[in-house]
Amino acid sequence: AARGNVQRYLERFHLSLERLQDVSARLKKDLVRGLGKHSHQRAPVKMLPTFVRATPDGTENGDFLALDLGGTNFRVLHVRVVEEEQRVLKMDSQICAIPQEMMLGPGEELFNHIAACLGDFLVSRGLKGQTLPLGFTFSFPCEQKEIDKSILIRWTKGFRCSGVEGQDVVKLLREAIHRRRDYDIGSVAMVNDTVGTMMSCGYRDRSCEIGMIIGTGTNACYMEEMRNVKRVEGEDGRMCVNTEWGGFGDDGSLKDIQTEFDVMVDQMSINTGVHTFEKMISGMYLGEIVRLLLVKLTEDKLLFDGQTSETLLTPGKFETKFISEIEDGLENAQNILTELGLKWDDVDSRVVRLCCDTVSSRSARLCAAALATVVNRIRTNRNVDRLKTTVGVDGTVYRKHPNFSEELQATVRLLAPKCDITFLVSEDGSGKGAAMVTAVAQRLALQSR
Ligand code: BG6
Ligand code: GLC
Repeated sequence: AARGNVQRYLERFHLSLERLQDVSARLKKDLVRGLGKHSHQRAPVKMLPTFVRATPDGTENGDFLALDLGGTNFRVLHVRVVEEEQRVLKMDSQICAIPQEMMLGPGEELFNHIAACLGDFLVSRGLKGQTLPLGFTFSFPCEQKEIDKSILIRWTKGFRCSGVEGQDVVKLLREAIHRRRDYDIGSVAMVNDTVGTMMSCGYRDRSCEIGMIIGTGTNACYMEEMRNVKRVEGEDGRMCVNTEWGGFGDDGSLKDIQTEFDVMVDQMSINTGVHTFEKMISGMYLGEIVRLLLVKLTEDKLLFDGQTSETLLTPGKFETKFISEIEDGLENAQNILTELGLKWDDVDSRVVRLCCDTVSSRSARLCAAALATVVNRIRTNRNVDRLKTTVGVDGTVYRKHPNFSEELQATVRLLAPKCDITFLVSEDGSGKGAAMVTAVAQRLALQSR
């Protein structure tokens, strides 16, 4: 009977193939809605033009700086693009910590800190006297007016700095650098991490036209036909669109698949009602979903003899990385449960493992449904019977979980049977891609002079 009761909770996380097809059909409509000329402000899936129209043509070269903000680590990078051997990008990078309070404090302090990290990096690499162009990977939804004008629509994930939403992020960065008066930067190109990932994978595979992130947050970008990007003038060629699929469901369209645990996670988050889909999928939230599920099972006396622990009852204490570790082996599960101060027996550890597997597997399948929607759209756009395409991927969940990528890939194949998809994991993050976008922008600017 106990097992049946556990199943009752877990089955709410199971999504059949038909259910996933249905989710994909809903997202398909939202993609179109987001691309519309005026409707996007209210559209849950924002479909943001990125002003990235061209991938590298091999003639770019030079030295670039890059900043990478919005994932697990904030990084400053120096990238050298060498024309003859385009594929070999030399780079050097440094992680710079951002204290938790700063993620929630005044925007000016955040930008001062970013400028200070960049300044220190320039000194340590002997680059201070130069005025280098900079690619800024800023992994939040931005309304771009141009490659170097990018207005933050809203913060997502763990950030909520005041005075930044509605502002041009490039301007805030430049102002912070000018306040210091000790160094300067050249032209700036703003990119989302999905775009940086697509561009950096585009190096190894020219048919890479989708970038996907499953890390702290989740999102994807892809090359859309210009004629469909209604907010940007011009009909010819393509432009990369940042879908911001994390916002899928923000109009209530996913209510039927949200569990009580998803609703709780949303309510406890710093941005309730925003990024519904992301909260069912990404690394910032998965651990918390499992924690709430375990608490509930314990309260119902289905786990640990009905005894919770102080740690298990504390939000954030069940880390997403535990899910990967627990699924990797029963012994890991037992060690983690002991660490969490729980008294477990063999059955408990198996049930916990099953909970982790259920939650991470739903995440992989939901991502698969979203990706299938995008590849199916590209196939229809191109009017081809079969589409062969490559997705550049990054993010801790995709990289570190033992069977996430396998489950995602297998499910996409079922949902997009007419597409042959190659998955490429980005090699050193999206900073390199940001530098490439900067390099392409610089080349185009020089050519148009
Ligand atoms: C990295 C990118 O490779 O992947 C980051 O350089 C990006 O910009 C990240 O945000 C996503 O992964 P995570 O797990 O760090 O959020
Ligand atoms: C969040 C951000 C998005 C980013 C994603 C992955 O969803 O809004 O811009 O791409 O996280 O980092």
